[in-house]
Amino acid sequence: MVSVILPAAGRGKRMQAGVNKVFLRLMGKPILFHTLRAFAAVPEVQEIIVVTGAEEVEPLRRALQGPGLFREAAKSVKVVAGGSERQYSVWNGLKASSEASDVILVHDAARPLVSRATIEAVIEAARENGAAIAAVPEKNTVKVVEDGVVTATPDRSTLWAVQTPQGFSRSLLMAANEKAESDGFLGTDDASLVERYGARVHVVMDSYQNIKVTTPEDLVVAEAFLRQSGSFTG
Ligand code: CTP
Ligand code: MG
Repeated sequence: MVSVILPAAGRGKRMQAGVNKVFLRLMGKPILFHTLRAFAAVPEVQEIIVVTGAEEVEPLRRALQGPGLFREAAKSVKVVAGGSERQYSVWNGLKASSEASDVILVHDAARPLVSRATIEAVIEAARENGAAIAAVPEKNTVKVVEDGVVTATPDRSTLWAVQTPQGFSRSLLMAANEKAESDGFLGTDDASLVERYGARVHVVMDSYQNIKVTTPEDLVVAEAFLRQSGSFTG
């Protein structure tokens, strides 16, 4: 079975909205709702764990009770409190996941545009290889800059911009998080923990549409994509 961890415990500082950005609305519904809806539509996903701020846990639990997306889809939904860094939030979610899960997906709650095709491709690749991440070829030339001066220009054809979901065998992700914790290592994505644990991480081609809503202009873009997809009528 597949469990999904949705880290949603950030403060959304770059959004400058004064609230956790996952509760901002697109097409009249919270960003988190759109993200949940995407995973509710995938039959293989049987458990969804939302990790949110400590004070948001109870209100969110109440909001997710009752008839809705999940009862209909026969999925279990848990809400747990996160930590001060995304990595700690994911670790809390992982510890709350069912031992019956063989594959764990981690997906930023702030990416409401993830497609069913991407979710299914990452599940399949993670099941086959132990670790797989959604990514897109980098469009920009990226430079290494130190003290305001360029020190290197990596060959763009080797660069991929990494998105989520990232999928792993549950035991591998547990072991990688345990090692990161005991080494005091803080990564910027989940795969980096698995890489330094020594496992091979496979890359699945994603869509450029699967943006992370981070700064105010991303709201405009995300809403335009949602409207274009026309899939939301509620
Ligand atoms: N996240 C989390 N716990 C944290 C930090 C982030 O669960 N301590 C989640 C966010 O809620 C988001 C995802 O991780 O869904 C990606 O993080 P990011 O885009 O950086 O969101 P924020 O940390 O909220 O934004 P900012 O960095 O601008 O404050
Ligand atoms: Mg952040």
